[in-house]
Amino acid sequence: MSRISPNQFLLSSSLIGLVAVLTGGAQGVGQSLVEQLHSAGAKIIFGDVDDKLSTNLVSALNQNDTEETKRVHFVHCDTSNYTDQLRLFQTAYKLYSRIDIVIANAGIAIHRDPFAPTLDSEESILIAPNTAEIDVNLKGPLYTTRLGLHYLRKNDPSRTNGYKGDIVLVSSIAGFKECEGLTTYTASKHGVIGLMRGLALQGEKEGIRINTICPWMTKTRLVTGIEQGWYNLGLPANEPEDVARAILICATANRSKSQRHEGAVLPFSGKIVWVGGGKSYEIEDRIRALEPEWLGRENSEVLKKGQEYLHSGKTSWDASS
Ligand SMILES: NC(=O)c1ccc[n+]([C@@H]2O[C@H](COP(=O)([O-])OP(=O)(O)OC[C@H]3O[C@@H](n4cnc5c(N)ncnc54)[C@H](O)[C@@H]3O)[C@@H](O)[C@H]2O)c1
Ligand SMILES: *[C@@H]1O[C@H](CO)[C@@H](O)[C@H](O)[C@H]1NC(C)=O
Ligand SMILES: *[C@@H]1O[C@H](CO)[C@@H](O)[C@H](O)[C@H]1NC(C)=O
Ligand SMILES: *[C@@H]1O[C@H](CO)[C@@H](O)[C@H](O)[C@H]1NC(C)=O
Repeated sequence: MSRISPNQFLLSSSLIGLVAVLTGGAQGVGQSLVEQLHSAGAKIIFGDVDDKLSTNLVSALNQNDTEETKRVHFVHCDTSNYTDQLRLFQTAYKLYSRIDIVIANAGIAIHRDPFAPTLDSEESILIAPNTAEIDVNLKGPLYTTRLGLHYLRKNDPSRTNGYKGDIVLVSSIAGFKECEGLTTYTASKHGVIGLMRGLALQGEKEGIRINTICPWMTKTRLVTGIEQGWYNLGLPANEPEDVARAILICATANRSKSQRHEGAVLPFSGKIVWVGGGKSYEIEDRIRALEPEWLGRENSEVLKKGQEYLHSGKTSWDASS
């Protein structure tokens, strides 16, 4: 892994005037993200299902602005609903005629695991399990990414050093580790990494960087059940601000010709950033470097040939034409 230390210049100056669209901005990590983007001078359009918290946040941040100068906007948006997300992006584009940064942050955890032996009974098995975590945590980012690519593709790369923009996805430690008691959540967060791995190479060719963060325990309402025992053990925890900063590290890592977040290897695309105890670590590059050890040298070499064939730009999965 590689520890990434934030460069304050990139976190502030490189965001001035940029247009950011994000989901789940009313509280927790998303709220901090809206606040940090606002203080860095960005324009923000966020979606959420909590209208009350969202409108309070908007009024607080726009308090010194006029109708013309306000930079924070809320659109009611259930991220699992395509129509809602389409309206979120359309609103942003209508307001500013461009979008630079897209962040899929909204997420839920259902703390009663339908796979748990204690919840298994002759009655419960008759009813389909709740899959809302798949809808919000996986289908949601899938919609966000599709819409995000569409709008980022409109950008003129000559205005932005050859790049059209950034997409940052929020997965979790549950995106790559065992996570007992949160089966559907774990599947949804593994899916988020799959979404990035499916798209990052294509995105890079188009000047769009797609990266994923994997926060470990973060002090929001999602973790109230396990919080006290965690602190008793002295285990590391993130503040929501730390996770929001890691998202902005991803969104700014490759935005300046001269400035770098220390430890960030460029091009910053297809990366996975673990956020733990307030610190950010890139972990995907080491997985790639260790592949011959992980899969065996021969497997790794022949896999590389297959990958090169599939990514040569001369193949298509579509056998119909
Ligand atoms: N807290 C942690 O320890 C932790 C760890 C790893 C990953 N994460 C991820 O971080 C992200 C942010 O979570 P958080 O900890 O800030 O939780 P949170 O509950 O404090 O915030 C989530 C926000 O998303 C909104 N939201 C929920 N469902 C929505 C929907 N259908 N459409 C739109 N908005 C919706 C909520 O209203 C809220 O504003 C989530 O994707 C979560 O899975 C959190
Ligand atoms: C609005 O202005 C007041 C007074 O200058 C300042 O204290 C406050 O932080 C400002 N609020 C925002 C959201 O910028
Ligand atoms: C999605 O949201 C729209 C309103 O924005 C609503 O009319 C529609 O019924 C919703 N769809 C689903 C599947 O909930
Ligand atoms: C991003 O990184 C790549 C690789 O180092 C570099 O070629 C490109 O110019 C960088 N983009 C910007 C905007 O600096």
